[in-house]
Amino acid sequence: MGEEKVTKSTAEISLSGFVIEAEDAEKMARESGAATVEDLLPSLVPAAMRLVRAPISRFPVGAVGLGLSGRIYVGVNLEFEGLPLNHSVHAEQFLISNAAAAGEAGMRCIAVSSVPCGHCRQFLQEVRGAPEIRILVTADGPNAAFRTISSLLPRPFGPPDLLHKGVPLLLEIHDNDLGAIPEANGGDAKCNGGEAVGMDRRLRTAAEAAARAAHAPYSACAAGFAVGDRKGRVYAGSYAESAAYNPSLSPVQAAMVAMVAAGGEEEVVAAALVEKDKAIVSHESTARIFLAAVAPGAHLSVYRYRPSDVV
Ligand code: THU
Ligand code: ZN
Repeated sequence: MGEEKVTKSTAEISLSGFVIEAEDAEKMARESGAATVEDLLPSLVPAAMRLVRAPISRFPVGAVGLGLSGRIYVGVNLEFEGLPLNHSVHAEQFLISNAAAAGEAGMRCIAVSSVPCGHCRQFLQEVRGAPEIRILVTADGPNAAFRTISSLLPRPFGPPDLLHKGVPLLLEIHDNDLGAIPEANGGDAKCNGGEAVGMDRRLRTAAEAAARAAHAPYSACAAGFAVGDRKGRVYAGSYAESAAYNPSLSPVQAAMVAMVAAGGEEEVVAAALVEKDKAIVSHESTARIFLAAVAPGAHLSVYRYRPSDVV
């Protein structure tokens, strides 16, 4: 071929997971002949598109983002058969939820297979500095370029319209006060010992950690959800609110993101929801509807915390 440098074509690049460590990202960039990790992102989009779960639309959307840490995060769209379309997770939301779960502090740029919808442009406003995050749409072809979110959403409604400046935004550190958390309602404490008890405890711990990390500045109803599969693995997700409310990602959706990102393929057998007692925004009914469609045999425990400042 006469070429000195062996570069991989986009079709050859595969992804081994949904998070790529900074050193590995640098290495992949060098091996693929990309000048920078940023330039590598578009070439990872086809591999991301192969990981989607879109049984309703059969329209794959893959998104790949570079965080401030230098890590790369992958996002794909998720659709759930038997449920209303609003349970779907957009690839861009998956990416941000995946990054938040990994403790990422901010996002530099994102390459995505098709143009982000209005709902995603709005959801991305929850990240600090959103207007300056740059997005490249690979469907634009070889001349596709990174452009700022502000060019896609020029006059945004967002966190500054509702929150004080110091309130942490979506990829910033959250440590929500959960105060006291009594045992699950409905007498879930199993006395028969064995695995079920161990799983219940792990689900509760995971959902609790997810609730502490949730971004719920608009309702003050932080929540976390965890699911356990047949092999005893646990996946948890944090609620992520949007200033415009409707684009919010429920903790149930976030747990599905975590499960797919971890390569979980097994049937869900149990779940736990941690949310505020008498929450003005509750996810219990959504969780029950979701489980009835996706994992009808799964048992749900609900833990309702009472923040310490509430007397
Ligand atoms: N979709 C995304 O993932 N991101 C967008 O911004 C556009 C739409 C997904 C949602 C649904 O799974 C499918 O594409 C069809 O709308
Ligand atoms: Zn979207």
